[in-house]
Amino acid sequence: MSGDFKAEFAARFRRPPRVFQAPGRVNLIGEHTDYNDGYVMPAAIGFHTLVGCAPNNGENFVVRSLQQADSAAFPIGDPHPQPRHDWTDYVRGVQIQLQASGFRFAAANLLVSGNIPMGAGLSSSAAIEVGVALALLDLAGGAMGRTAIATLCQRAENEFVGARCGIMDQFSSIYGRTGHALLVDCRSLEFRYVALPDRVSLVICNSMVKHSHKAGEYNVRRAECERSVGYFQAWHPAISALRDVTEEDLRRHGDGLPAVLLRRSRHVISENARVLRAADALDRGDLESMGKLMHESHISLRDDYEVSCPELDALVELAAKSPASYGARMTGGGFGGCTINLVEREAVDEFKSVVAKGYKNLMSIEPEIYVTTAVDGAGSVE
Ligand code: GLA
Repeated sequence: MSGDFKAEFAARFRRPPRVFQAPGRVNLIGEHTDYNDGYVMPAAIGFHTLVGCAPNNGENFVVRSLQQADSAAFPIGDPHPQPRHDWTDYVRGVQIQLQASGFRFAAANLLVSGNIPMGAGLSSSAAIEVGVALALLDLAGGAMGRTAIATLCQRAENEFVGARCGIMDQFSSIYGRTGHALLVDCRSLEFRYVALPDRVSLVICNSMVKHSHKAGEYNVRRAECERSVGYFQAWHPAISALRDVTEEDLRRHGDGLPAVLLRRSRHVISENARVLRAADALDRGDLESMGKLMHESHISLRDDYEVSCPELDALVELAAKSPASYGARMTGGGFGGCTINLVEREAVDEFKSVVAKGYKNLMSIEPEIYVTTAVDGAGSVE
């Protein structure tokens, strides 16, 4: 793939590029917890974005994609950069953040290509950000720690693109490891790897409903969490995020919250506990318990956090009927996108055909189903 990509770059820009790759991610458990300073357990997956880059001796960054029609050229020293509201904002947001951090680079041509399904909740945008950050750091001849790269990319998305995402997506793209998920504490950004048993595959079922949480409901959920934190601070002023609210606090004081905020808080608090129990279960190789926790997570996202949709619920219910599946849940922001399923490797084909047929019968939609494994994080491609 990278050989063709390099040739394509050279044909368009008449110069060989340096190439970097960044993977998408799937989250096994820990949804809508990252921006509450909580725990998540994502894994980088075998779908990637490639970013090729070479200086162009001009004044402008020229940004193109092999998949997207939009392209952009923007001056390197624009004092008032404005978002264009297309994918090139991810590139520009990262460029601006790197310059704000003191990195200096020449104008360059950038080509982006990839196979991460877009709008499916598998972090195609975070992969662009991380790949571009590596390419521009290389162009600047600079270095930055991996955690700092992840937080810089998150800032690019928060401040320039205008999506208030947490840290999970960028973090997994940069720190992924073959055969492992990551257990991340999104407050301290400490993490450890959790081995995934060989006998299961990560099976991702795409509902084909484009998730549209970007500006709307996602930010509403964040605001609801912030209001809940304000309420709990009346009892414990040290509480700064829902991460700090215990199950006991919720039992004692939860009744005073408006019903919606009680449900949102209950999801976040119970989900954090589930992530830690899930890590223990995987450490023991106990896939049955892991699967049960995934199912509970889905129910909580459906009923308390209200970020699922009928199509995702149908995919989870179909998977629950399959003896080959240990657990299934929606993954990512929700309102469409994908489910993640832990499936016995030997029975993956059967699982795929049962779910695809069932989903088509119920929803009249042909799902896409991707079978993948956990892979290494972003890096250069030789
Ligand atoms: C999106 C965001 C992440 C995270 C998930 C929900 O993917 O980008 O930061 O909040 O939603 O868990």
